[in-house]
Amino acid sequence: MKIAVVGTGYVGLVTGTCFAETGNQVTCVDIDERKVEKLNNRIIPIYEPGLDVLFYRNVEEGRLKFTTNLAEGIKGAEVIFLALPTPPGEDGSADLKYILGVANDLGPILEQYAVIVDKSTVPVGTAEKVHAGIAKNAKVDFDVVSNPEFLREGVAVEDFMKPDRVVIGTKSDKAKAVMNRLYAPLVRQGNPVIFMDERSAEMTKYAANAFLATKITFMNEIANLCEKVGANVDDIRKGIGTDSRIGKRFLFAGIGYGGSCFPKDVQALAKTAQEYDYDFRVLKSVMDVNAGQKKRLLPVIKQHFGGDLKGKTIAIWGLAFKPYTDDIREAPALDNIRDLLAEGAKITAYDPEAMENVRNILGNQVTFAHTSYAALDDADALVIMTEWPMFRTPEFEKMNLLLKNKVIFDGRNVYELDQMRELGYTYYSIGREA
Ligand code: UGA
Repeated sequence: MKIAVVGTGYVGLVTGTCFAETGNQVTCVDIDERKVEKLNNRIIPIYEPGLDVLFYRNVEEGRLKFTTNLAEGIKGAEVIFLALPTPPGEDGSADLKYILGVANDLGPILEQYAVIVDKSTVPVGTAEKVHAGIAKNAKVDFDVVSNPEFLREGVAVEDFMKPDRVVIGTKSDKAKAVMNRLYAPLVRQGNPVIFMDERSAEMTKYAANAFLATKITFMNEIANLCEKVGANVDDIRKGIGTDSRIGKRFLFAGIGYGGSCFPKDVQALAKTAQEYDYDFRVLKSVMDVNAGQKKRLLPVIKQHFGGDLKGKTIAIWGLAFKPYTDDIREAPALDNIRDLLAEGAKITAYDPEAMENVRNILGNQVTFAHTSYAALDDADALVIMTEWPMFRTPEFEKMNLLLKNKVIFDGRNVYELDQMRELGYTYYSIGREA
């Protein structure tokens, strides 16, 4: 099939590359000339494990192309994906200016029937707006389908190639047939393609992210209570996760969820509820608890140092909002670093992928170390913000020599309590006794 993907951000690039991998002829379109030039020079602008192999292979095969010209990019395409940003507006609702802008541009240049697919996370009712935007000037028949993505950063290629499910919102049989054909190679194991109407598909995406954010937040509150009652949240996680109704995944307590999706989507769903005059109380609590959770370690750190962090050097391991990404959007590390700096602490940080992004924001307020161990040199304590695997089994003997004090504040429960006791560390974590 010939397909076009408008927007070469994270979702667009993964979508385009993966559909090229299943044999389609894909053209990705972006207004950002520098980005398109980079892509045409085989430079991938994002860090996503496994994407490079597929990208180079399909560019080489001539199945994956890039252009800034929308009309040229969509020429002959049976399916046109819209993978455009939907940043939160000032009131928290998703801003649709990019998507509706492209919808307006598409109308006059469509030359034959095409399925236009909303891939970005968009509020309920967007497919109808996109349809209206195109219809104003369209000379040919077309359908607008909502097909939300459920990709996790860091494992996006795997999530795309082996989806748990594919959700497709459309009432058009013609569009259903096209989408079925496109996704058939990805659901050969029998994972379902679930058809529904456009509004339900749009709502499904928000419900999924809001549910997962709620699941994490619930565990974070259990963790906070565990600290008070003297229980261990890791044991609770195992104890409840084995109940198949609850499930083992997404029960890890920590210093809150971040990233480009959960915070934005929970906020946008709350905003939708408000617009429809529905008081979605759970969501309000989730946002409130998460904001507090992100700052959970600061008072603990302060208290440990007798309330005064002036002149203390704090080593930070992990800056990305989670492992296997360089993404620092809504990352707890950023908020915490700002707070620690405001308290007069000096920060030496290490992250395998995200340091450049933090440097662009905080500049020389933070010292960036070349290795994880270099960050510890002469530090008064170590704070773990992201659970990169390399932090899980470090050489403690080396750490002991570098750190001034054997003190770890662990925002991701990376170590076992017994292990820390044996090694003689003062160890603070989330939802477990000190
Ligand atoms: C999330 C969803 O998982 C994807 O299904 C969805 O497609 C995507 O948002 C999106 O809307 O585009 P992502 O933001 O990449 O994906 O990251 P997750 O792996 O879901 O993690 C989100 C946050 O939750 C991270 O800050 C992570 O540290 C936190 N988390 C996750 C926990 O604190 N505990 C857990 O047990 C799991």
